[in-house]
Amino acid sequence: MKRTWLVTGGAGFIGANFVHHLLDHHPDDRVVVYDKLTYAGNLDNLRDRMADPRFAFVHADICDRAAVEAAVDGHGVDTIANFAAETHVDRSIVAPDAFIHTDVLGTHTLLEVARERRLRYHQVSTDEVYGHVPDGASTEADPIAPRSPYAASKAAGDLLVNAYFVTYGLHTTITRGSNNIGPYQYPEKVVSLFATNAIDDLPLPVYGDGRQERDYQWVGDHCEAIDLVVRRGQPGDVFNVGTGTSITNLEMVELILEALGKPASLIRHVEDRPGHDRRYALDVSKLQALGWRPRHTPQAAIVRAVEWYAANPWWWRPIKSGAFREYYEQMYGQRKEIAVGPGAAPA
Ligand code: NAD
Ligand code: TYD
Repeated sequence: MKRTWLVTGGAGFIGANFVHHLLDHHPDDRVVVYDKLTYAGNLDNLRDRMADPRFAFVHADICDRAAVEAAVDGHGVDTIANFAAETHVDRSIVAPDAFIHTDVLGTHTLLEVARERRLRYHQVSTDEVYGHVPDGASTEADPIAPRSPYAASKAAGDLLVNAYFVTYGLHTTITRGSNNIGPYQYPEKVVSLFATNAIDDLPLPVYGDGRQERDYQWVGDHCEAIDLVVRRGQPGDVFNVGTGTSITNLEMVELILEALGKPASLIRHVEDRPGHDRRYALDVSKLQALGWRPRHTPQAAIVRAVEWYAANPWWWRPIKSGAFREYYEQMYGQRKEIAVGPGAAPA
């Protein structure tokens, strides 16, 4: 079935990769990117798609109901895929308001427009809604137990989506993805930050002991999963999306340094993030039963991501020399270096 998509947050990292995926794989689909262009939104992420007759761009906020309605009605949208969000945990610790605004109220606004028009609605969510997972792997049936303001705002979005399915019979689906990496990731997230820092021989600020675990997945694999879930998911379905393998941050850092031929002396252990979830891990068997398989291990995804940043300084250099500098100073300037290892106080 051909679709006309409203891809909210389509100028951000995963949303833009999803737009590339749709235009490459579904020649009859049309795509309307709807984006507020916050610090994380960047039309450079879509620069080779702007002239495609199947593509349109709307500059607006998902909390602005009239603007959402105008975009949906004006373009004949039948499917909303909501990628728009405030997404960085560290920013949510310093300033949570925008997270509640966009991730909760924005999701509600989109759901209302979808409910009135009986649109297909897909919510892009995160493994962080499950909270810290000391052992084993989260299944979709597990309770959600978010611990950061970011994770709580995303969990609230998930609960609203489920309520619209149960109460109004809206055809909703949710995907809960693990950490994505790849092209066009704003260099505040760890792999894009560390790759671009290491290229410039700048320090890599590892939080605490670096033994936290994440399931780093290739963004293109995640996009394929979302596409499949929108086409094949049943109303109310929730799917985890990840490789099913979590690795430590220290392993991730070593892979980045090795791929770039840089020394371990760039590593700095710094004060930990407050409330840092030490481990996320996903059971992805439900999605695999739908026929999806990740094409990359975390290790392969990290190396491929680093290669992209090494080959595409045109994309990240302007970002890192702009307002990002102020952010970096605020986030890392006061952060004390700490000692880790045998004999050191616990991180
Ligand atoms: P991002 O921060 O790179 O991009 C977010 C986009 O949303 C930006 O283009 C921004 O301008 C836009 N936006 C923000 N507020 C908006 C608003 N009020 N109205 C309209 N547009 C707005 O984010 P990302 O990493 O691409 O994440 C996309 C989605 O995937 C988010 O919902 C996030 O929670 C989820 N997710 C991300 C990851 C990850 O590893 N990055 C993992 C799992 C799930
Ligand atoms: P991040 O990319 O912020 O994703 P999330 O916290 O949403 O999983 O961080 C990934 C991991 O890397 C997480 O354990 C925190 C850690 N991290 C650092 O050690 N240093 C950093 O500068 C950043 C940004 C993250």
